[in-house]
Amino acid sequence: MAIRHFLQFSDFSRDEFEYVIERTRLIKRKFKSYEPHHTLLDRTLVMVFEKNSTRTRLSFEAGMHQLGGAAIYLNTRDSQLGRGEPVEDAAQVMSRMCDIIMVRTFGHDIIDRFAAHSRVPVINGLTNEHHPCQVLADVYTYIEQRGSIAGRRVAWIGDANNMLYSWLQAARVFGFHLHVSTPRGYDIDPGLVEPGNNCYTEFASPSDACEGVDLVTTDVWTSMGFEQENEARLKAFDGWIVDEAKMARARPDALFMHCLPAHRGEEVSAGVIDGPQSVVWDEAENRLHVQKALLEYLLLGEL
Ligand code: CP
Ligand code: NVA
Repeated sequence: MAIRHFLQFSDFSRDEFEYVIERTRLIKRKFKSYEPHHTLLDRTLVMVFEKNSTRTRLSFEAGMHQLGGAAIYLNTRDSQLGRGEPVEDAAQVMSRMCDIIMVRTFGHDIIDRFAAHSRVPVINGLTNEHHPCQVLADVYTYIEQRGSIAGRRVAWIGDANNMLYSWLQAARVFGFHLHVSTPRGYDIDPGLVEPGNNCYTEFASPSDACEGVDLVTTDVWTSMGFEQENEARLKAFDGWIVDEAKMARARPDALFMHCLPAHRGEEVSAGVIDGPQSVVWDEAENRLHVQKALLEYLLLGEL
């Protein structure tokens, strides 16, 4: 089988996602009933982190263990990556010692170069431009809670960041529509949207973007790697908080999602993230289940 990578959401077809989602259901059910599911016995995942993480590390490491395999954690601080070893050389070496690799890094070009020199599948655990594993968990969570996401409307309120670009790709794959509202100066970079993707509408007003939607989602105003812009962003994003008034514009059964970590009082009010429409804890947990299905699919194909 040719090596498959999962670097952007658009790397998989709708049919492949349907398979992974079906498999996730099985894997989650077995996990909940303590039934062993050791499809990746003796396989090793290497995880490369150039940025901080709680959920991504934990879900991949626990997930690999639960599949019967092992996971090894490397970071920039104490590996040779932090001392300038070329990413191409690192990919050659690492991919001779393990079966699959997850990378969290800065520019997306870095993971593309890594994957081009890897003998094994590479998974994007977040780059500046994409966070496909998180959006896979989010789509799974929506389907789990409400059924098919096709034809639904999703509001993205906040920064045009890695999460938004993965949501835009997911909208095209699954056939739903995004209402995007970003402050002036922080809007969508057309260079990061696939040509022909017309699955979104831009709104100047974040409240108007929430009108009649099935799901409202947001993320931090300052992503990792952009910390020096924090002060300017706090000013520019004033008014873009997802609060009770904005949720009231959405459908009564609308869900709220946030990939976490969150800042209560900035991008989301405590009342919304801790309120009845919020599914953030399911969303976080589902990282574990969808990524186990993803690891299995990349290594074994359809079973
Ligand atoms: N949502 C997410 O990717 O969280 P971490 O940064 O903790 O991995
Ligand atoms: N957009 C955020 C997501 C963190 C999981 C970041 O890149 O920091």
